[in-house]
Amino acid sequence: MGNMLCNIWNIVSATSCVTIVSLSLVSPVAAADLAVDRTLASQCAQCHGTDGNSVGDIDGLAGESFNELYRELLEMKRDDDQDLMHLQAKGYTNDQLARIAEYFSSLPKGDDD
Ligand code: HEC
Repeated sequence: MGNMLCNIWNIVSATSCVTIVSLSLVSPVAAADLAVDRTLASQCAQCHGTDGNSVGDIDGLAGESFNELYRELLEMKRDDDQDLMHLQAKGYTNDQLARIAEYFSSLPKGDDD
């Protein structure tokens, strides 16, 4: 029993244990970034279509210029309107809106837009 407690203490305090924890924090940043951008933008797919290519009356977003998208989103975030689209924009930080604009502008424009 005394031995077992001693072993547990050794595991907790050993430097190798600290090394394992810090290694697990290292992740491929680029891959994570793309996944984050896509996840942020996935909310928009409900209305603006999969991959930003709308099949209904609402405008598609794919292939629009980054500047245009980012400017529109920032405007919708800043003003006091509370309609559907303005509330969407208010839910994100400026950095997140930039990433969403970047994501849609990088996608190929569909035939319907
Ligand atoms: C619940 C439905 C809905 C969701 C979700 C939604 N939108 Fe919209 N969006 C609209 C409607 C409706 C309009 C205004 C009508 C139009 O432009 O066709 C609009 C307009 C826009 C416009 C201006 C028009 C254009 O083509 O440039 C942009 C930019 C836009 N949305 C981006 C986004 C982004 C980015 C997201 C995700 C963060 C998003 N929308 C999520 C419904 C939605």
